[in-house]
Amino acid sequence: NTRVLTGITTSGTPHLGNFAGAIWPAILSSRQPDVDAFYFMADYHALIKCGDPARVARSRLEIAATWLAAGLDPERVTFYRQSDIPEIPELSWFLTCVTAKGLMNRAHAYKASVDQNQAQGVEPDDGVTMGLYSYPVLMAADILMFNAHRVPVGRDQIQHIEMARDIAQRFNHLYGAGQDFFVLPEVAIAEDVATLPGLDGRKMSKSYNNTIPLFEGGAQATRAAIMRIVTDSRQPGEPKDAENSHLFMLYKAFATEAESATFRRELETGLGWGDAKQALFERLEQTLAPMRERYESLIAAPERIEDILQAGAAKARRIATPFMQTLREAVGLRRLA
Ligand code: TYM
Repeated sequence: NTRVLTGITTSGTPHLGNFAGAIWPAILSSRQPDVDAFYFMADYHALIKCGDPARVARSRLEIAATWLAAGLDPERVTFYRQSDIPEIPELSWFLTCVTAKGLMNRAHAYKASVDQNQAQGVEPDDGVTMGLYSYPVLMAADILMFNAHRVPVGRDQIQHIEMARDIAQRFNHLYGAGQDFFVLPEVAIAEDVATLPGLDGRKMSKSYNNTIPLFEGGAQATRAAIMRIVTDSRQPGEPKDAENSHLFMLYKAFATEAESATFRRELETGLGWGDAKQALFERLEQTLAPMRERYESLIAAPERIEDILQAGAAKARRIATPFMQTLREAVGLRRLA
């Protein structure tokens, strides 16, 4: 069977980008007969930039409820929290010891911080923690721990998967002696939704504050955000450039091809932006409304979610614990007698 694995950082409220770029494609692939899926909350990753315990705790609940409300079946999928698997940080240390510092110097997230500091005329590493710097190593441990073949993510994560491959190769080469410990993971990108735009047309992202919330705040919050989507100044009656409109990209991510073709024709023949926003909202609600109902009842029953996650952690550790033992032996951490 193919092992498919992906995670979401628990540092905020899940948005449409997370849903279209990662959650929904991951749920669809978990339903294929020959797939073993591993989906998790990256809550150790959340500690890197957040530093707000209440927000991390709340986000763990929201993201778990989102996966379940969207249709994840915990009987089929190994569904867990990273921080319930102590083998992951242990593996992360093993990998840290074989990862070239130069590889981490090239990581986009780190380089972005350095560039920003340089632009502001402060020390390049100002405010950069070792957590941020080593972020890709922890992510490699997430993936390699379960020997994932395929990792469905949005475009912003491609580099991290490539780094996981490099790190896996390095470990295999150093310790494998002809036997490979780690599978080299492949990135899986759903092209249409690989970078879902936010309200302002840039990538939808917590850090840009341009997100459309999925379930939090109810349908009103989703609608209010949609009404704030930035459009050009063309008036009702004037033809719109659908292909270059991020409103249309958002629509496409949730609609069938036939629906998108109709919507494009309407835009090109003068549909006003206000009506277009209403149409986008209605199309989204078709998909989201039933999920939101489940989401609300899940959020109100955290003990049910906790039970599911505990069972998921036990399932994950049935793989992680013996594998970690093999790796400990491989690097020389063996019993003396
Ligand atoms: P995170 O939490 O930033 O995002 C979760 C997933 O959502 C995708 N995504 C998007 N896709 C399309 N358009 C967007 N605007 C958009 N915004 C976010 C992301 O690409 C991602 O797939 N480092 C990861 C979490 C992680 C992980 C892993 C993922 C930790 N360990 C192991 C895969 C495998 C992150 O911070 O994603």
